[in-house]
Amino acid sequence: MNLIFLGAPGAGKGTQAEIVCDKLGIPAISTGNMLREAVKNGTPAGLAAKERMDKGDLVPDDIVIGILKDRIAQDDCKNGFILDGFPRTVEQAEALEKMGVKIDKVIEISVPDEKIIARLSGRRVCEGCGASYHMEYKPTKTEGICDSCGAKVVQRVDDKPETVLSRLETYREKTAPLKGYYENKGMLKTVIGQDEIADTSKLTLAAIEG
Ligand code: AP5
Repeated sequence: MNLIFLGAPGAGKGTQAEIVCDKLGIPAISTGNMLREAVKNGTPAGLAAKERMDKGDLVPDDIVIGILKDRIAQDDCKNGFILDGFPRTVEQAEALEKMGVKIDKVIEISVPDEKIIARLSGRRVCEGCGASYHMEYKPTKTEGICDSCGAKVVQRVDDKPETVLSRLETYREKTAPLKGYYENKGMLKTVIGQDEIADTSKLTLAAIEG
């Protein structure tokens, strides 16, 4: 099954993708994580992406499409995958079609802006493995230390309040039009994000199975 998780920054795409991929046994592919890895490793794509990511702007389509194309060609994607954070523009959605990728469902996770701002101000991510936490909703067992790999957890540069507002604006302008794009194709299912992560997971799984 090939799925797309769509939603504003902080809506919970990554959190739900991690839970659903465990249940379905397919990988979750986050273009945000892949780009952060490229930045860390100083690759040409990472160097081109860093400044835009720090400001909350989108990375150019050709760079992201190239990274995604290479990733979904890998063996572990044969039985399906969850795309988290891709496509983010109509051009990226069209590129996916040109690659011959058949998408089964597009799950939109919808959360009001006030909640998103609270979620992103409390989010912490692991410097080592990229695991994501929240100071209140999903704390680490030991403060400041990743449960999975023991590295330090920090705030993402683009989770600063002024950058979050800019990311929300970019989402409205460039990514939200994808809702109409996929609705017209009869592929869109909307899940209202709940306060408890587990409650959103139940609705997400029901939307995938329904
Ligand atoms: P990316 O990493 O994809 O960021 P994003 O889309 O802004 O999404 P987030 O990771 O911020 O949020 P999420 O929806 O995954 O929420 P999460 O589950 O973490 O992209 C970063 C940048 O890379 C972009 O700005 C852009 O520059 C570039 N980029 C990436 N893809 C691109 C593309 N295709 N094209 C161009 N540029 C691209 O949850 C957030 C927090 O809330 C967590 O702390 C979590 O624990 C908590 N939480 C989650 N669910 C709940 C709940 N139900 N209740 C309470 N708390 C919750």
